[in-house]
Amino acid sequence: MKIACIGGGPAGLYFALSMKLRDPSHEIEVFERNAPGVTFGWGVVFSDQTVENLTANDPMSAKVIADEFAHWDDIDVHIHGQTITSSGHGFIGIGRKRLLEILQQRAREPGVALHFNQECDPADPKWRGYDLVIASDGANSRFRDAQSDAFGVDIDVRRNKFVWLGTSKVFDAFTFAFEETEHGWIWAHAYRFAPDASTFIVECSEETWAGFGFDKISQDESIAACEGLFAKYLNGHRLQSNATHLVGSAAWLNFRRIKCERWNAGNVILLGDAAHTAHFSIGSGTKLALEDAIKLAQVLNRPGLSLEAALDEYVAERNLEVLKLQNSARNSTEWFETLHRYLHFEPLQFAYSLLTRSQRISHENLRLRDREWLESVERWFWEKAGVPGKSAAPMFAPFKLRELTLENRVTVSPMAMYSAVDGTPNDFHFVHYGERAIGGAGLLFTEMTCVSPEGRISPGCTGMWNDDHVAAWKRIVDFVHANSKAKICLQLGHSGGKGSTRVGWEGNDVPLDGGNWPVMSASDVPWSPINQVPQPMTRADMDAVREQFVAAVQMGLECGFDMVELHAAHGYLLSSFITPLQNNRIDDYGGSLENRLRYPLEVFAAMRAAWPSDRPMSIRISASDWAGDNGITPEDAVAIGEAFAREGADLIDVSAGQTWADAQPVYGRMFQTPFSDKIRNEGKLATMAVGNIYEPDHANSILAAGRADLVALARPHLIDPMWTLRAAAALDYRDVYCPPQYLNGLSQLARNLKRDAEAAAALRV
Ligand SMILES: Cc1cc2nc3c(=O)[nH]c(=O)nc-3n(C[C@H](O)[C@H](O)[C@H](O)COP(=O)(O)OP(=O)(O)OC[C@H]3O[C@@H](n4cnc5c(N)ncnc54)[C@H](O)[C@@H]3O)c2cc1C
Ligand SMILES: Cc1cc2nc3c(=O)[nH]c(=O)nc-3n(C[C@H](O)[C@H](O)[C@H](O)COP(=O)(O)O)c2cc1C
Repeated sequence: MKIACIGGGPAGLYFALSMKLRDPSHEIEVFERNAPGVTFGWGVVFSDQTVENLTANDPMSAKVIADEFAHWDDIDVHIHGQTITSSGHGFIGIGRKRLLEILQQRAREPGVALHFNQECDPADPKWRGYDLVIASDGANSRFRDAQSDAFGVDIDVRRNKFVWLGTSKVFDAFTFAFEETEHGWIWAHAYRFAPDASTFIVECSEETWAGFGFDKISQDESIAACEGLFAKYLNGHRLQSNATHLVGSAAWLNFRRIKCERWNAGNVILLGDAAHTAHFSIGSGTKLALEDAIKLAQVLNRPGLSLEAALDEYVAERNLEVLKLQNSARNSTEWFETLHRYLHFEPLQFAYSLLTRSQRISHENLRLRDREWLESVERWFWEKAGVPGKSAAPMFAPFKLRELTLENRVTVSPMAMYSAVDGTPNDFHFVHYGERAIGGAGLLFTEMTCVSPEGRISPGCTGMWNDDHVAAWKRIVDFVHANSKAKICLQLGHSGGKGSTRVGWEGNDVPLDGGNWPVMSASDVPWSPINQVPQPMTRADMDAVREQFVAAVQMGLECGFDMVELHAAHGYLLSSFITPLQNNRIDDYGGSLENRLRYPLEVFAAMRAAWPSDRPMSIRISASDWAGDNGITPEDAVAIGEAFAREGADLIDVSAGQTWADAQPVYGRMFQTPFSDKIRNEGKLATMAVGNIYEPDHANSILAAGRADLVALARPHLIDPMWTLRAAAALDYRDVYCPPQYLNGLSQLARNLKRDAEAAAALRV
């Protein structure tokens, strides 16, 4: 094949080499606009896995590269005048210039033709003379942009500013240095990539950048200012740019996240940064570019594979890898963009939050890297929880809400069982809640328990409006208190326009076949075309329902519940006031967020007044309508949390969505936790995270990073009431409360899991 590679960066060079090595008969030319040795940037970092991939592809260049690697293990985080050092991170780095020199030299050996100082124009007809044109021309690819519709290009320009500098100061550790200035925070990411040189990337918000006037001064003046700001880390060494072709403020960039729906159009194929970018803070751009090159060379040379099939395989495999990485990169990018959230953390937690920002590194990963350091974090966490001197998994640390102390941080999230008759819980509920209390969670929520027959979702919902309900719930609460250390919280709600439907397993939100009751809501917006048009609530309705909530709270007190939660999420009655997607009122209860919150806050305040002041109350909210700016946004959610906190809410139970029928949530592990993080750390409120949290490692990472104060698990508890006791066995945590009847089972499980873990560790060695 006759192939032109546009751009002599890592992607173009390595692809050219990889093709030639597989089949010397390919005619391959690389066209680079710059002269050899002229390149932007300084060092790049790799992982051991990337080196393995390079070695399998071309042992010769891999060896030369690996021989020149700078290795380091530590990460230093400098913040608030302290340095937090953790170890075991195992980085390797190399200078970008040196990497390109090695690749240029190696590519020439099998006969790749390298042309320098050649600016390529996508409109030039000469490209038609090539079988394939590889657009390896980087993030600003002209070849991609010339056909941006064909490639389905999606570019997200991020808000922080950064400049990629170098220095002769040799950093022994990967260094993050955060400095507070009169214009806001500015920080450096620095690492050694050669015996005498380090990369030094400076990053800040746009406001700080403008505050310093970096938009108006020359590149040299910017560099001099950075030298002054980071003088204490540079020990007299200078900072330098090798992007001297960029003038003035152009040396400062905004990161552009690029992704493409399609990677080939006509004879042009995208490779490396032209197809996708990953934020520099996770250091994977070069790895992705090299791995793209390997895969494309593999499929193009596989005998019997058509070009079309080869490209399909290349795009499918690489796209998946890229998406995974871009996901982590987005978390990392956002962490730096929302730095203000974490600046009030103590340095140790700040460093933990930084290290786990991409969600690729978890609590147990950190234990493998640096056990001693992780234990210092755990000790700190327990001390803050009021237990000094103890180092154990954060999920087992106690948590206090008013005068209520929870045994640990795991909760059983509210889950409708649709199994009551006339609202009365029965033996199913007794066993269901009893089992989950015995299973070790610190807090157990009831399902949404409805304040009136018309407030039920389905005929199977539990209620709290008569003496039968009080007696049945009291039996459950008494059992929980007598047989476990769990506390129990009554979730109260009213279904609003989503009521009068079948039980959950007969279809979500599907109206009853017969016996429907009229429903009311904030407005006359039906949940879906098959649901009833609700009656907009009158002021008299509002008074009546508020009093039903108050009566239910009083009954809850009679039952002995430890805590009460108001359900104002998921599109039910109170949620229908809060979300603009359901509320089109033109009175004092519609319009602005303040107006939309008025009735839910009134209900909450009335409940609070009826509930003892030493017992906590929580509020469940949907922190996003998954509708962009048309619905509740995470910013609104902070204001909502703050408003309920002012009325006496002690905990914000941060759920999301289910507020309009066509929402398209973005699912994934711990997918709603970012909302909890935002509300907790911007609103300075206690929060509970929920949503696809299913491993003890998830729980511990969320808690130690200060992304939530409690973690709630719903579906995992459906299938495993003993989730918390199992976690205790897996983490070898001995102080968990286990009913004496079950102790033998717990210790056997702990022994078996320990043996398995030791066998797995021996295999790794
Ligand atoms: C601040 C910063 C830090 C980074 N840190 C890391 C890191 O630590 N680790 C890591 O793996 N990655 C890092 N990256 C990303 C990394 O630099 C890229 O992902 C990687 O270089 C992609 O390789 P590429 O060959 O696709 O593109 P590039 O390296 O951008 O190469 C493209 C080449 O094409 C040439 N070119 C462009 N247009 C034309 C044209 N029209 N005609 C001729 N030639 C053209 C350019 O001159 C360039 O040489 C970082 C990036 C930035 C901005
Ligand atoms: C069967 C079932 C019933 C649920 N019922 C309720 C409920 O009554 N009240 C409520 O606030 N959330 C309810 N939820 C939502 C859960 O509390 C939780 O927010 C959601 O399932 C996400 O958590 P998970 O990923 O751990 O399952 C229910 C979830 C399930 C699976």
